[in-house]
Amino acid sequence: MREIGKILFDEVTIRNKVQELGGRISGDYAGKEPIIVSILKGAVIFTTDLVRSISCPLTIDFLQASSYGMSTNSSGTVAVKKELEADIEGRHVLLVDTIIDTGKTLASLMKLLALRNPASINAVVLLDKSCRRLVDVPIAYRGFEIPDAFVVGYGLDFNERYRSLPYIAVLDEDR
Ligand code: IMP
Ligand code: MG
Repeated sequence: MREIGKILFDEVTIRNKVQELGGRISGDYAGKEPIIVSILKGAVIFTTDLVRSISCPLTIDFLQASSYGMSTNSSGTVAVKKELEADIEGRHVLLVDTIIDTGKTLASLMKLLALRNPASINAVVLLDKSCRRLVDVPIAYRGFEIPDAFVVGYGLDFNERYRSLPYIAVLDEDR
């Protein structure tokens, strides 16, 4: 059995960090109307909190990538499982994920979206497991650095479980 282990970030700590990120984004995007591209499913909870702390007008869309564990092809490209509805040409895109690990997902999605001629594209992540990075990805907005551990909660799952936990915790290994 796996069990919820150490809580890394509680609700208040997450809320404060999300507000800080939202404040920075609000300043940087003042006078623009960014499109928030939320990566399903893990980023949904982070996105809904983040957008409520951004003061400029914005639109929201969703993109789902297939897990690279099953679907990365030889060139390292992540397949798109659910496409955006919006046309992002000429738009300021903010790609939102809750966690960056190897960087394959975000690198691949940023490359894909850049081909659609957006006005700009930046990434927002709440958690960065930078010690695990295999692909270099520019991250404009980063919440917390975390150690190499598997974490769940606040949208992040293990086999689809634990997404609804209001905090972020380490999932302990079998014992
Ligand atoms: P990357 O492509 O290796 O950067 O992985 C990014 C994706 O892997 C995230 O969007 C998550 O869905 C998943 N992921 C990576 N690390 C964790 C973790 O510690 N807990 C839960 N999901 C994770
Ligand atoms: Mg997952």
